[in-house]
Amino acid sequence: MGESEIKIFIILTGIIVLVFITGIIIFIFQYRERKLLYNKEKAMIEEQHQSDLLNKQLEIRQQTMQFIGRELHDSVTQKLTLASIYTQQMEFENLYPGMQEKLKGISTIINDSLVELRDLSKSLTESKIENSSLSDLLMLECERVNDTGICRALLQTTGEAPLTITVKSFLLRTMQEFIQNSLKHSNCREISIRLRHDEKGLALNAADDGKGFDVTTVQSRGIGLNNMRRRIQILGGSFNLQSEAGRGTSLELFVPIDHVNSQ
Ligand SMILES: Nc1ncnc2c1ncn2[C@@H]1O[C@H](COP(=O)(O)OP(=O)(O)OP(=O)(O)O)[C@@H](O)[C@H]1O
Ligand SMILES: [Mg+2]
Repeated sequence: MGESEIKIFIILTGIIVLVFITGIIIFIFQYRERKLLYNKEKAMIEEQHQSDLLNKQLEIRQQTMQFIGRELHDSVTQKLTLASIYTQQMEFENLYPGMQEKLKGISTIINDSLVELRDLSKSLTESKIENSSLSDLLMLECERVNDTGICRALLQTTGEAPLTITVKSFLLRTMQEFIQNSLKHSNCREISIRLRHDEKGLALNAADDGKGFDVTTVQSRGIGLNNMRRRIQILGGSFNLQSEAGRGTSLELFVPIDHVNSQ
């Protein structure tokens, strides 16, 4: 083999090795990219699945309560009404001396039970969340806080529009947990809530003026905080909880308009 042939051989071998190495590098990169894409898709499917699951649970709970409410109304209430009519008739007939008093007593018990049953049936059938606006539901929470006398709660609303039951109940549950935490842990004097709904989305801010806490160390411990974060994540919104010892706690939620309308 001449000198020039050896050179050509070395160059060719070099090129082959280079092509081979480049091929391996490209393959590794493509493999990693595909794996990343696969993991991303898997996470998205998992998230969607969790969201569907939660929505389903909410729906089943709702249907069960409505079923019990209707059953109470259609079955027990009807029978009690009949029993009430019978006792009224007997009261009228006045068969034995002293019987009228006893029948009056029975009649009163039946009628009281009827009123209570009707109220219960109504509250189970008509879902409070379904039939009230988010600001009404939040106002009710504020009133409850104010009734405790522990601290003051204020609500400020700007621009309300109808919301689906999922969005309403997830936001309400999140705010209820914030309020509970403020009452339980913060020693605050005031809790303020602001609700703003415009063409960009729905913003909900809450703040207490309590003792605050270290968000970084405490986050993984409580179920409440994790549930709040998860609910907002499922809605496709952003969650920003801030707190500092001695400076209170604040929460900023934002759900973009396309997510508000798609749930
Ligand atoms: N507004 C707040 N002010 C002061 N500390 C708070 C506040 N909110 C939360 N914390 C702290 O964060 C911790 C975790 O809160 P989280 O709601 O997750 O759990 P929890 O309230 O202790 O129990 P639960 O699971 O019943 O909600 C609380 O134990 C408390 O120490
Ligand atoms: Mg809590």
